[in-house]
Amino acid sequence: MRTAPRCAECSYGPSAVPSHHPPVSQERVIKAASAPQGEPPTGESGSGSAGADIAVELRGITKRFPGVVANHDIDITVRRGTVHALVGENGAGKSTLMKILYGMQRPDEGTITLDGTRADLHSPGDAIARGVGMVHQHFMLADNFTVLENIVLGAEKLHGIGGRARRKIQEISDAYGLGVRPDVLVEDLGVADRQRVEILKVLYRGARTLILDEPTAVLVPQEVDALFDNLRELKAEGLTVLFISHKLGEVLSVADAITVIRRGTTVASVDPAETTARHLAELMVGSALPTPETRESTVTDKPMLAVEGLTVHDPQTGRPVCDDVTFTIHAGEVMGIAGVEGNGQAELVEAVMGMREAAGGALRLDGQDISRTPTRQRREGGIGYIPEDRHRHGLLLDAPLWENRILGHVTEAPNSKGAFLDPGAARRDTERIVTEYDVRTPGIDVPASSLSGGNQQKLIVGREMSHHPKLLIAAHPTRGVDVGAQAQIWDQIREARREGLAVLLISADLDELIGLSDSLRVMYRGRLVADADPAAITPEELGSAMTGAATGHLEHPDGPPPVPGARTPEDEPREAVAGSQNDDHPREDGDTR
Ligand SMILES: Nc1ncnc2c1ncn2[C@@H]1O[C@H](COP(=O)(O)OP(=O)(O)OP(=O)(O)O)[C@@H](O)[C@H]1O
Ligand SMILES: [Mg+2]
Repeated sequence: MRTAPRCAECSYGPSAVPSHHPPVSQERVIKAASAPQGEPPTGESGSGSAGADIAVELRGITKRFPGVVANHDIDITVRRGTVHALVGENGAGKSTLMKILYGMQRPDEGTITLDGTRADLHSPGDAIARGVGMVHQHFMLADNFTVLENIVLGAEKLHGIGGRARRKIQEISDAYGLGVRPDVLVEDLGVADRQRVEILKVLYRGARTLILDEPTAVLVPQEVDALFDNLRELKAEGLTVLFISHKLGEVLSVADAITVIRRGTTVASVDPAETTARHLAELMVGSALPTPETRESTVTDKPMLAVEGLTVHDPQTGRPVCDDVTFTIHAGEVMGIAGVEGNGQAELVEAVMGMREAAGGALRLDGQDISRTPTRQRREGGIGYIPEDRHRHGLLLDAPLWENRILGHVTEAPNSKGAFLDPGAARRDTERIVTEYDVRTPGIDVPASSLSGGNQQKLIVGREMSHHPKLLIAAHPTRGVDVGAQAQIWDQIREARREGLAVLLISADLDELIGLSDSLRVMYRGRLVADADPAAITPEELGSAMTGAATGHLEHPDGPPPVPGARTPEDEPREAVAGSQNDDHPREDGDTR
């Protein structure tokens, strides 16, 4: 794996910026346009236009954590009534900056000016009072409460808890096209609806500036379009949106202005109309992106995971959430499962991992029956696991990185020798993972919670790949990971696949699914309802099958379409790809046509 250059003095990666690092060379330096630091706010922007046009002005923001400068002399001007995107590598300092603007963290230096007046924010309450609200990536709604209850909770003073509150919610929902239903239980809502409730909750509290930290990471394309329509409505009403995303295509389609953050500081201010995703990515990393290697098929005829008639029931309702699922993944094959979140993918993964009891069906790993085998033994038998929820199933947030390296692999080398743990070897191996997988951290003794989201993900991927699994269960393996690191993780998976790794890939990112998979299935209401050849399907076609609109074998009417980033039939011999979709053995392969 390509590793980023590190500072010789402190061995930090480039985005963890100790104060001795030299200034970053910049293509379009935006510092010059900023107001002089330390001066009181004038209510006017540096360019002399009326301050009334400027919703947020951040000047000279610096924030240090032990061993890391997360933000360093940040300057951003956000015009009112615009969608302003922040982009940058994992660990560049985007979330930290937004937490400062939302009063969750105090800057060590610098000023925040909101609507032309200096703001001194000590808590999110202060930020909300000044009209700034934030929607976090991990939603914070109470599942067993209704939408209305969730929205009024903690804000009872505003419009009470009865009819007035209901009318207000309806009014906001209608004004911005949010389609929120006040009396539905939150647990019955899908992820996109929950997000709209979070947005409404913030608007209900009077926010005029909304911060959305990676809102699209969990959404499928249709949901992203709907969210962007909502954002345009907000903008049309004069609200301001600050938006973080690693999906540069989306950023270009929705943003009015883009600020690039690199190594903790603002390095460029870009007009989306005048740039490309590639150029943006290069501004983020400070160098040209590596071009992806040509791919060849590595699918063999050796079954690695065979799932037969797997059925899982919802413990509460008794309804099947995974319904008679059958498929085979061969050594050297990546099988992708597409589906709107909540259609049984999570239950399928948990049943294969042994974390959830199956009501029926059989599982074979490399020829061995593992249907009754406990999770630990399944892992020892060669299953690697990149979980969907990295906070709940992937990491111990309070434990240091090296302990997290042991997690899930306690009995395996190098973590243990015989019956004993070998902390020294585990620590050395953690250092190796940090280097090879470019985990940006000041050391292996910091707690996992202090890593940025994308760097936590890289640590998990590194840990799981280090055990040379036979089967990798990868749920959203690059969620929250920047474009450069994403390409590296894909390369890593492809390399292991060449050596015979079988992969069960679940992803909301359809480009990832199409680009990485050798075969594709669509999961809908607990069943595998359709299959497709990744070389011959577009994200749009796959997206429509995910809503249940198409079943069976999905085929493009005019043959393989030109899918950017996806393999072409020329570099992927058709007969090899067909390994798991071999028409001669439709039953064995779980064909639901
Ligand atoms: N509470 C904390 N304690 C120590 N270090 C922290 C803390 N929060 C953030 N950091 C460090 O600050 C830097 C910036 O992190 P931040 O979360 O802002 O990055 P990011 O740009 O949001 O990255 P990502 O795209 O991965 O989410 C990282 O090096 C991170 O490890
Ligand atoms: Mg972040």
